[in-house]
Formats: sequence, C-alpha cells, structure tokens
Amino acid sequence: MNSNGANPPDVVVFGQIARDLVFVVDEVPGAGHSAAVRQRREMLGGKGANQAVALAQLGMCPALVGVVGDDRVGQRLLEQARQDRVDVSAAIVRAGTATALIADVVDGSGRWRYLEDIPAATLLTRTDVLGCARLLVPGCWASLQLQQPPTAALAAARLAREAGCKIALDGVPGEQARAELLATADVLRADAREAGLLTGTDICTAAEAERAARDIVRRGPSLVALAVNGIGNAFAWHGGSLQLPLSPTQVVDTTGAGDAFMAALIMGLARGGGPQRAARLAVAAAGATVGHPGGRPALTPTAVQQQLTLLARAAPPVPGSLMPPGGAIVGGATS
Ligand SMILES: Nc1ncnc2c1ncn2[C@@H]1O[C@H](COP(=O)(O)OP(=O)(O)O)[C@@H](O)[C@H]1O
Ligand SMILES: [Mg+2]
Repeated sequence: MNSNGANPPDVVVFGQIARDLVFVVDEVPGAGHSAAVRQRREMLGGKGANQAVALAQLGMCPALVGVVGDDRVGQRLLEQARQDRVDVSAAIVRAGTATALIADVVDGSGRWRYLEDIPAATLLTRTDVLGCARLLVPGCWASLQLQQPPTAALAAARLAREAGCKIALDGVPGEQARAELLATADVLRADAREAGLLTGTDICTAAEAERAARDIVRRGPSLVALAVNGIGNAFAWHGGSLQLPLSPTQVVDTTGAGDAFMAALIMGLARGGGPQRAARLAVAAAGATVGHPGGRPALTPTAVQQQLTLLARAAPPVPGSLMPPGGAIVGGATS
C-alpha cells in the first residue's frame, strides 16, 4: 500500500510539478494594450504532474517524483495530486525555493505562449532521484521527462534498469548521455521540435518521421513515436511501423497533449495491448486533451473512446501526407 492507501505504483514519473495558470484571450495584446480574459483556470500542472494524473485517469497507479517549494502552493499541489490518486510520497519539498509557476496564455486560434517561472531548485537532482530507489521495483515502468537535467535523467535510467523496470523517455536525450539513454530505453517519444533536435534536421512529413523513428529503434528503444507538426505521429518498433493522423477534433490548446499521449502509450504497452493498440490509444488521449485550455488531462473512458472512434473514421490524407482512414501500417508490421 502507498501513502494514498492505494496499490503500489506501477509507473514512476520523474518530471516537473508546477502551478498552472491558464488565460484564454481572443488575441494576445501587444505592449501597451490589454485584453479581456475569456476563461481562467488555475490548477496542478507541470509535465510530470500532467502525465501522472493522466496515468491515474487511465487506471494505472502512478507515483510522481518531482520538486515543489516549501510554500503553501507546493502543499496545495501535492494535496491535489493525492486527490488525483497520484502517489506523491517520494515528491521532494525543497526548502528555500518557491514552487514553479507557469502561465499559459492561449489565443482564439489555439496558439499558446508560456510565461515560465521555474526556479533552478525545482528541477530534479541526481540525489533526489537516488532517494526514490524504493519505488522502482521489477516490472514497474519508469517514465523520464528529459526536460529535467541530464544527470537526474541518467541516474533515474540507471536505477530503473538495475531494478528491472521498463523505461520510457519523453523529449531529447542530452548529447552526452544520448547513446546510453537510447540503449537503455524501451520507449522514446518526441514532439515535432524535439524530433528535429534529435535527428539534426527538420521533420516535415510522415515519411521522414517514420524513417527517423526506424533509425532510432536501431539505437535501442523497442518503440519510438515522433510527432510531425500539424500532421500526426509516426511510430516504429521492432518489426513494424505505423503512421496515425491527428484525431479530427477541435484544438483549443495543445498543452499537455504530449503528456497524455505518453501516459496512454505506457498504459497500452503495460496492459499488453501491443504497439498498434498503444499507438492508437496515445493519439486518442492527445486528442482528448487538445479540446480544453491547459494541460490538465480529462481522460474519461468515454472521452478516449470517442477519440478512438474519430480516429478510426479519420479522413483520407491529402497526397504526400499521412494516412488512409484508421491509419496505415507501412512496415508490414505485427504487434
Ligand atoms: N488534434 C489532435 N489530435 C491528436 N493529437 C494532437 C492533436 N493536435 C496535436 N496533437 C498532439 O499533441 C501533442 C503535443 O505534444 P507536446 O508539444 O509534447 O505537448 P506537451 O509537451 O504540452 O504535453 C503532439 O504529439 C501532437 O501530435
Ligand atoms: Mg512535450
């Protein structure tokens, strides 16, 4: 039993915890101008918390390893996480720092701007990670957000590997640790910008993403997912690959969609559904997150099922981009 009285964690997320403020405006004002806020939300956020909450909503038992300051905001965020059925018994409350704050200003076209106050002391250290070793037990997943410092990510990967955990990476492994992190990872996922950094070239088409994902699979991970801006996601694994379009749903704010995507990918694989099923779940979970402002997921079974249905009916692609309805298996794949 964990501190929440729930089951022991089956996924340990190493990532950020922040207070999120979301402002929806018609247009972001220029200097010297103001804009009326159409909608305001304030909530537990940060990539780590968003992913952990998504995992809990999907029926997993996540633990979150991240840092808050020793202030009232930090206490409130941890309390919210507990209510969300996230085990925060190993979260770090750091003396002498304020909790991270992110303001997400979204305009009427779904374009976001983030104002980030992320004190350096709210990033994970190697020592923080080593203090959580007890959570990593054989068969458990470790989900590492590579936006955290490379020394912390590497320490987490080594601990997880030694403990017999599966390892999922979100983001770009720092160059010095890249070979080791890729060799040790089971899953790597990158958004469009990160995929470009990882491959050293902009990825503009599904075919390029699919080729890049296949290349990365050869360097270690069993499953790689790369996003292509405005088009979709390409997946590759040993023996197959798949391209999926974005689910045809109204986009209000893409914030947190990558974290929901990652949570569903891990859940799908952990439950033994195979890469194709996990890939569809991931795109559906992202689709269920882009329709509301802010990164906090709302992955009810109905919302995910609706997105799976939309995805299965997705329109044929325009030539040169992604996919026939339901997505195309392009690599003679099996799961
Ligand atoms: N309409 C949509 N349906 C499904 N997924 C979408 C849609 N629009 C964007 N996405 C996905 O949202 C994700 C955003 O990822 P990312 O930028 O990493 O978000 P964050 O880091 O804020 O969680 C990408 O994987 C992208 O493919
Ligand atoms: Mg992301």
